[in-house]
Amino acid sequence: MKHTLLTFLTIALLISSCSNDNQEEFYDASECDTSNVTFSATIDPIISRNCKSCHGVGNGTGITLVSYSDIKKHVDNGKLMGSIKHLPSYSPMPQGGKLDDCTISKLDAWIANGALDN
Ligand code: HEC
Repeated sequence: MKHTLLTFLTIALLISSCSNDNQEEFYDASECDTSNVTFSATIDPIISRNCKSCHGVGNGTGITLVSYSDIKKHVDNGKLMGSIKHLPSYSPMPQGGKLDDCTISKLDAWIANGALDN
C-alpha cells in the first residue's frame, strides 16, 4: 500500500513537472517565428495596422508610411526603429503605446535581411 502511494506520488510529480515544462515552452520567446518575414506578408500589415491611421498620405504628421519606399526611407534614416524601440531622441511610436516584442523582432529580422521589397 505504501509503495502504491509512493509510486502514485512519483508519477504525479513527473507528470506535473512535464506539464510545467510544456507551459514554459509555450510562453518562451522562441515562440516568436521570425524565419519567414517578408514585406508583403508581415511588415506591410504591421505598419498598416499600427501606423497608417496617422501616417497615411497627407494626414498632417509630415511622415508618410504607406508604400514600400516610404517605409524603406525611414528604415535607412533610422527613424522607423528609433521610434518603434523608443530610443532616446526619437518620438516614441505608435503614439501612446509600444508594439509587442515579437512584432519588433519581426521588423528587426526583416531589416537584418536587407529590408527587401519581397
Ligand atoms: C495616433 C497617431 C500616430 C500613430 C498611430 C503613429 N504615429 Fe508616428 N507620429 C505621429 C505624429 C503626430 C508624429 C509627428 C510628431 C512627433 O514626432 O511626435 C509622428 C512622428 C513619427 C516619426 C518621426 C519621429 C522622429 O523622431 O522624427 C516616425 C518615424 C513615426 N512617427 C513612425 C511611426 C510608426 C512606425 C508607427 C506605427 C508603429 C506610428 N508612427 C504610429 C502620430 C502617430
